[in-house]
Amino acid sequence: MDPGHCSHWVFGYGSLIFKADFPFAEACPASITGWQRRFWQGSHDHRGTPDAPGRVVTLIPTPDAVCHGLAYRVPDEVFDHLDHREKNGYRRLQVAISLQHGPVVEGTTYYAGADNEAFLGAAPDHRIASHILASQGPSGSNLDYLERLARALRRMGCPDSHVENIFRIAQEQAGSNLE
Ligand code: SIN
Repeated sequence: MDPGHCSHWVFGYGSLIFKADFPFAEACPASITGWQRRFWQGSHDHRGTPDAPGRVVTLIPTPDAVCHGLAYRVPDEVFDHLDHREKNGYRRLQVAISLQHGPVVEGTTYYAGADNEAFLGAAPDHRIASHILASQGPSGSNLDYLERLARALRRMGCPDSHVENIFRIAQEQAGSNLE
């Protein structure tokens, strides 16, 4: 990838962290302020189906909260691919992205607001965990999404307590289902 050609930053906080199926010049640990990551978005097309949507993450506006993720420097063409990949309720949002080892840059993130059709909203962690355990779609099981996200955030040194709690409960529930 010609690095000079990549003039846009994209901030990923969910599957974009662990599945980068697009060209990029660099990927940097980064954060955005004023947002929390929550498993409040339905997934009809990746980790569930229209009849049985899975649960994936979106951003919830929360004063002073910091959401850690990965920022990619990408070429313009990537947006056609990402708009399609994130079409189930997400829209592009301009945000200020703090690069962990660099400046604050302007960039884009994919945000699914409470007004989109697939939005599911809050639920107790144990209900979110059991919902995730029961769901799967064309991109794989919903548990695989949860596990990959939890592990990627740990590897980056920024585990997220919401994701960690749900992952722990889902593992406990999966264990008790096997007994
Ligand atoms: C993202 O990863 O940044 C958006 C949500 C998702 O695709 O999981």
